[in-house]
Amino acid sequence: MNIAILASGGDGSGMNLFLYHVVKKLKNHNITLFKSGFCGLCDDITCDFDLSYIKEHRNDGGIMIKTSRCEQFMTKQGQDKAINTLKRHKIDVVIVMGGNGTLKGAEILHQNGVKVVFVPCSIDNDVSPSEYSIGFDTACQTCVEYIQKVNDTMLSFDRGCVYEVMGRHCDAIAKKVGQLVDADYVYKNTSTLKQCVQALKKSKKSAPIVVLQENVTDVSQLSKNLESEISKEVKFCVVGYIQRGGKPSKKEKAFARLFATCSADAVNNDSSFSMCAVKNNNVTCLNLS
Ligand code: F6P
Repeated sequence: MNIAILASGGDGSGMNLFLYHVVKKLKNHNITLFKSGFCGLCDDITCDFDLSYIKEHRNDGGIMIKTSRCEQFMTKQGQDKAINTLKRHKIDVVIVMGGNGTLKGAEILHQNGVKVVFVPCSIDNDVSPSEYSIGFDTACQTCVEYIQKVNDTMLSFDRGCVYEVMGRHCDAIAKKVGQLVDADYVYKNTSTLKQCVQALKKSKKSAPIVVLQENVTDVSQLSKNLESEISKEVKFCVVGYIQRGGKPSKKEKAFARLFATCSADAVNNDSSFSMCAVKNNNVTCLNLS
């Protein structure tokens, strides 16, 4: 079989490991790795990595075949170019790694008669109906380490701090990290300043912690508002892109392997549109067609 693999949207730890396991499992097939996601499909750009190179870099952060948010593929012209590329390479099935935006791109391929296997990869953990997407656990662990280190100095000065974490419009990282660092308040899109102030006033900590979901409110303004309300210095930190990098956590490694087994099986099944998903803690293959 001729199998294409691509990654699109935000990257996350564990994607290289998934790539390694799936390429290894499918090594008896002809695999084409498209570079920079749907852009690589539109412009027919591939990577010629062999299994030993992929193995060597399997625990690296990022995604070695590169990713993009491809504007070209949003147009009918771009989509036609991508479909023609797949025809030229005589591709039988495309394995697509990405988040919920990428799932829409995968659906476009499917609507054009391409067999697709979709694999949830996004630190945001917002790929419904899967309970897990590759990159989430490592991103949360990174946030925890970051917050714990910053909190050391906040404690020395008795300062509060607001930590903005990623997630686009999803509160999964904020909620999980808030739990893990025992935050005084997790500021999500349903939150109000009043609720946050009340939580900090109730807190017995000398260095209270607020975890803020990105795209909800301005982090600098929030820290200023809190500072004037609780009569304590309140700093802010944007955790940022560090959340997408680094070596995969143990949980990430386990899911990368399980998703690879699931995708390799899906390549051979009858469904023209499959998705590897975690349901009730088990990796399963959903038929989206
Ligand atoms: O979707 C993953 C993510 O890291 C989001 O959490 C964040 O909002 C976005 O990507 C940032 O995207 P970019 O890399 O395009 O700045």
